[in-house]
Formats: sequence, structure tokens, C-alpha cells
Amino acid sequence: MKILLGVTGGIAAYKALELTRLFVKAGHQVQVVMTSGAKEFIQPLSFQALSGHPVRDSLFDANQEAGMGHIELARWADQIVIAPASAETLAKLRMGRADDLLTTLCLATDRPIMLAPAMNRLMWRNAATQENVAVLKQRGLDILPPASGEQACGEVGEGRMPEPQAIFEAVMHAEKARLQTQQAGSELKAFWQNKALLITAGPTYEDIDPVRFIGNRSSGKMGFAIAEVAAKAGAQVILITGPVALPTPEGVKRIDVRSARQMFAAVQQHYAAADCFISAAAVADFRVEQPASQKLKKQQDVEEMTLTLVKNPDIVAWVAAQDNKPFVVGFAAETNDVVDYAKDKLRRKKLDMICANQVGEGQGFERDDNALTLLTETSEKVLPTMSKHELAGALLRFVSQSMQG
Ligand code: CTP
Repeated sequence: MKILLGVTGGIAAYKALELTRLFVKAGHQVQVVMTSGAKEFIQPLSFQALSGHPVRDSLFDANQEAGMGHIELARWADQIVIAPASAETLAKLRMGRADDLLTTLCLATDRPIMLAPAMNRLMWRNAATQENVAVLKQRGLDILPPASGEQACGEVGEGRMPEPQAIFEAVMHAEKARLQTQQAGSELKAFWQNKALLITAGPTYEDIDPVRFIGNRSSGKMGFAIAEVAAKAGAQVILITGPVALPTPEGVKRIDVRSARQMFAAVQQHYAAADCFISAAAVADFRVEQPASQKLKKQQDVEEMTLTLVKNPDIVAWVAAQDNKPFVVGFAAETNDVVDYAKDKLRRKKLDMICANQVGEGQGFERDDNALTLLTETSEKVLPTMSKHELAGALLRFVSQSMQG
């Protein structure tokens, strides 16, 4: 892999030397770009010795630009990694500034960008930094959470750059996930090309009052992975999602909703045009009967409070009951008797297929990997623990086989 390593100004810049060494040792090519701040902390020559390439640091150096211009450098990279990424760099990337070589490169590339922020704990906690991180994540940048511990400034808290080994592994993991997605995508093209696929994902939030809601711990990762792989395979994907912190996969039409009723309305609008509907959302079964229009205040001396909940529409069962229904796939997240409960749900909701998974005790929600059992009335396939992207590929393969009878 060709890795463009950006090093910005921070005491952790010295750790980027070890990171360079790890990449090179594993057989990857590394070109280092330093900001002027980084050079205050460390000599470019050290990176040059380790990477075997001169360090790039200037946007306007005629000699360097003649050899490999910033656009060429942006195209050269398979992956851009910025470690350490200073608070200033996060702010500049969020703004789309291009006042040095590194930020210009980031603006001029369509390659994946991973950031390893490192800074004083208060700078990290600052609302401006947190907002910058949230926006960059939404745009699809991969941001590694900083580690906690003693900081160079003498304070203790969150803001240390993750160890080089952890950054190295994160880059390798991201590359593997991309390859798996691509591989699964091209295998699946034969069936999914131009098929219309409707997917729901994530949790729903049911409001109690303007500041409180009932939600659940679904991250949306499974539904988003299916959407991503299906889009790679050429499907026309509409993804209806509850509140999640995930970027929209390329080529996918995303519709954001909040409550189960909003999700239902969006599904009702789109199901008829779909060849297949995959209901991966963790829809709240109940909603608050009457959400308060103003924030509920606690009353003195009142020790209990009762919320009246009413049933939400069962979205997947509704679609399965329509005359012009697409092929309908549900999910069953269970803590026990997984397959039995899932089979029961398959029949009760009249689904064509159900994907059963075990949740709880560190499994299922909020994770990058998972295991699933796929069930139709006549067949069963167990998918052992693997990444959600691998699962998405296997699931779409099983759906295509089932749809073709
Ligand atoms: N589902 C839905 N609408 C709802 C509730 C669930 O479309 N109001 C869908 C989910 O997206 C999932 C499947 O139904 O595909 C199973 O969801 P689950 O909540 O596990 O099923 P329930 O019928 O609610 O069963 P239980 O709560 O008893 O486990």
C-alpha cells in the first residue's frame, strides 16, 4: 500500500517515526509530509532515513513541485494518515483550508483519510474541537479516539496520540474492510446490478419531551454495511436511517428520520419500487403516547412517574402484508434461544427471510463484527463471527439465492 503520512505540530510527532518504521517493515511505501509546526519538534531527515523518500513540506517549492506536484502526490497515495493531527489541523480540515501542502493534499484527494488526534486534554474536550471532529466524521474521515493518560504538559486526561502499533493496526483493518467490500461487491454484481434495495438502519428515538427520548444502542453499522456493499454491487439503494453517527456510503440515497412513525412513513413511500426490503433498524416497539411540548419538570415530593406508551406500527410486518410486496428480510436481535425466536418471528411477521443475531454480553450492537444465522422457511445458513462488511456480502449473496428460488 502507498501511505502518505502527514505529521503536524505536536510533541507526539516523534511517535510518527515509529509508525513510519512499522509501515515500511510491513512492506508499504511511505511518503511523509510535514507541516512547519511539525518541524519545530522533529527533524525531517529522520523521516527521510526511515521512509527512503525526501520529506515534503512546501506547497510552493519549485524543485519539489517539479518532481511530484501536490495533486500527483494526492493521487499517488492509497491512504492518507495524519499522526499526530493537531487541533489546528482538525480545524483547518473542517474549514476546507488549503494554506499548506498537507491541507491542500487532503482537499485534493478522494482517498481515505485517517486522523490520530493528539493534544492537551482541554483542547481535545473543547467544544470547537469536538464539533470539528463530529463534522469530519460525518464527512467520512476515520478519526481514532485519543488515548487517556499522562500528557507531555503534565496534565492527566484524554488527548494522547494512540500508540504507533494501534494506528498501524487501524490502518490495516480499514484497508482489509475496503478490500472485502470491493471483493464482495464485484461478486454480487451479477445479481444486484440495477436492483432496487430499500434498507432501514439504526435506532429510532421516541421523544418524551423536547430534551428527552427513549432510544436504543443500535449503531446502524450493519444496515450501513449492507447499503455500502449493495451499492458497490450496482444496486439502487435507499437507506432510511434513524439517528446514527455514520457517513453515507458512496452511491446510496439516504433519508434521515428520528421516530418509528417517521421511518414508517418513509418506508411506505418507497417500498413499492423496491425489489427487496431489508429491515435492519432497531425500531422502538412503543412510543410515548403524549410527548410533552415543554421540558418536564420534576415535582418536589414526587417519587414516581409513569409514562404511558403506545404501540408503534410494525414496519416490516406491514410491508410483508402488502400485495405488491418486495422480498422482505427482517432481523431478530435476541439474547437467548436465538434461532427459535427468530423462526417464530419469520412466521409471525410473514417474512421471506430473517437474520438472527445474539445481542448482549459484548455481542451485536455497537461492534464492528458480528455473527448471524440466516433463515428462510426452507433453508438455514450460519455465518460465524466476521466483520460487518463480510457479513453484508454473505447476507446479500444468500438473499440473491433465495430470491432466485
Ligand atoms: N421491526 C419493525 N417495526 C417495529 C419493530 C420491529 O419493522 N415496530 C422490525 C425490525 O427492523 C426487525 C424485526 O422487525 O427487522 C424484528 O424486530 P424485533 O424488535 O426483534 O422484533 P419484535 O417483533 O419487536 O419482537 P420482540 O421485541 O418480542 O423480540
